[in-house]
Amino acid sequence: MSVTIRAATLADREAIVALHKAAAVTPGALARAPEEVTPAYVEGAIGSDVCLVAVEADGFVCGEIHAKRETVALFAHVLGSLTVAVHPERQGRGIGSKLFEALIAWAKAAQPPILRLELAAGAGNPGAIRLYERLGFKHEGRQVARGRLPDGRFEDDILMGMLLL
Ligand SMILES: CC(C)(COP(=O)(O)OP(=O)(O)OC[C@H]1O[C@@H](n2cnc3c(N)ncnc32)[C@H](O)[C@@H]1OP(=O)(O)O)[C@@H](O)C(=O)NCCC(=O)NCCS
Repeated sequence: MSVTIRAATLADREAIVALHKAAAVTPGALARAPEEVTPAYVEGAIGSDVCLVAVEADGFVCGEIHAKRETVALFAHVLGSLTVAVHPERQGRGIGSKLFEALIAWAKAAQPPILRLELAAGAGNPGAIRLYERLGFKHEGRQVARGRLPDGRFEDDILMGMLLL
C-alpha cells in the first residue's frame, strides 16, 4: 500500500488523536496513556516545529512524527521532544522509517541549521530502540526509573542522539 508523507495541518487533529490513542494501547510504547491523548496535546504537536503524517491513498492517517527545536540559543541547533507513532495494524511495514527519513530531510534543510536530533525511548521498547539504532541514533545515556508503568514497575529511559554534521 502506498503511503504519502506530508506536513500535518489542524484538519488532521482528530485523525492524529485516534492514531495516538490506538498506538498508546501497548504499555510502555508511547509515554501517554490513551486517556492522556487529548485534542489539546495533538494541537500542540501539530504546532511543533515539524509535524509530519503518513497518509494512505484513502486518506487514512497511519503514522505521525513531531519534534521541537530547542529555544535557548546555546541549544538552537538541537531538535528534540521527538514522538513517533504508527497505527498498530500498520507497524513493521516501513512507515516509521519513512517518517524518520522525511524528518531528517526536513532537519537538514532547516534554517538556521539543525545539527543534532535527540530522543528518549523506554528500555522496555526494544523494537523502537532497534529502529533508532538502524537509523543512526547512538546510545548516549540511561535515566534510571524515569518512567513508572500502570502496574507500579519502574522503567529506565534510554537517551539517544544523532549528529547531522
Ligand atoms: C516504533 C514505531 C514508530 C516503528 O514504526 P514502524 O512503522 O513499525 O517501523 P518500520 O516498519 O519502519 O521499522 C520496523 C522496525 O521497527 C521496530 N519496531 C518497533 N515496534 C515494532 C512493531 N510493533 N512491529 C514491527 N516492528 C517494530 C523494529 O526494530 C523493526 O525492525 P526489524 O524489522 O529489524 O525488527 C512503531 O512500531 C510504533 O508506533 N510503536 C508504538 C509507539 C512507539 O513505541 N513509539 C516510539 C516511542 S519511543
